[in-house]
Amino acid sequence: MTTPIPSIDLIDALTQEYIDKSPSEILELALNQEGEIAISFSGAEDVVLIDMAYRLRKPFRVFSLDTGRLHPETYQFIDAVRKFYKIEIEICSPEAKPLQELVTTKGFFSFFEDGHSECCGIRKVQPLRKKLATLDGWITGQRKDQSPTRNDIPVIQFDAGFSGPNKQLIKYNPLANWSSADVWSYIRMMEIPYNPLHEKGFISIGCEPCTRPVLPNQHEREGRWWWEEATHKECGLHAGNLK
Ligand code: ADX
Ligand code: SF4
Repeated sequence: MTTPIPSIDLIDALTQEYIDKSPSEILELALNQEGEIAISFSGAEDVVLIDMAYRLRKPFRVFSLDTGRLHPETYQFIDAVRKFYKIEIEICSPEAKPLQELVTTKGFFSFFEDGHSECCGIRKVQPLRKKLATLDGWITGQRKDQSPTRNDIPVIQFDAGFSGPNKQLIKYNPLANWSSADVWSYIRMMEIPYNPLHEKGFISIGCEPCTRPVLPNQHEREGRWWWEEATHKECGLHAGNLK
């Protein structure tokens, strides 16, 4: 049974209603929503969502942003998930022209000098914008305890940043209230695929040049864009989290 896309003024009430519901219940609500909706997949959290969607026995779509700079292990992991669930993963690639201009004029590592937003803008945000323009809702694996920028994310929100004048986009964060330990208990219990880089000290995994393993008790986010301030560590996919 499908439910209508919630209007902006209903989202707050829906968020309150679902504030203490399980990730699977939030996911079910999202998958029941009318229109086109997809899971945004890159890491451990997202496989948990894919697994839950699979168990709900509902049709679901998955997309992944291929920045061209992911680790070989991440590409293998994406393929492993595709095969494990026998699903199609819609791959979103950056546009050639701005990318060629960037690497021609500034080289392959401009982010170490200029900050990551220009490269992320071309390799991640623009392809995401293009994909989201075709959707009515998207489902992410964001968690509150993942980053200081994510402390306040609700389980359901209106995505102002990626909505258009004629279409409102709903963003679902079913794992917002889960900890990393919850995610990893689920992965181990269900024996589902994970990125082999996690066995080498990586926790939060993005592009190869901008991700490094963390030491024991270091926060997972410290392995991402480590040369920048913690409060700025959003690449633009979730820019709405920055106050
Ligand atoms: S990021 O913005 O800093 O890169 P993070 O790695 O924490 O994001 O992941 C948070 C959520 O953003 C993921 O659970 C996933 O839903 C989405 N996401 C991040 N990177 C990608 C990607 N390359 N492709 C698709 N979705 C992504
Ligand atoms: Fe570019 Fe690094 Fe952003 Fe990847 S994470 S898109 S390599 S700046």
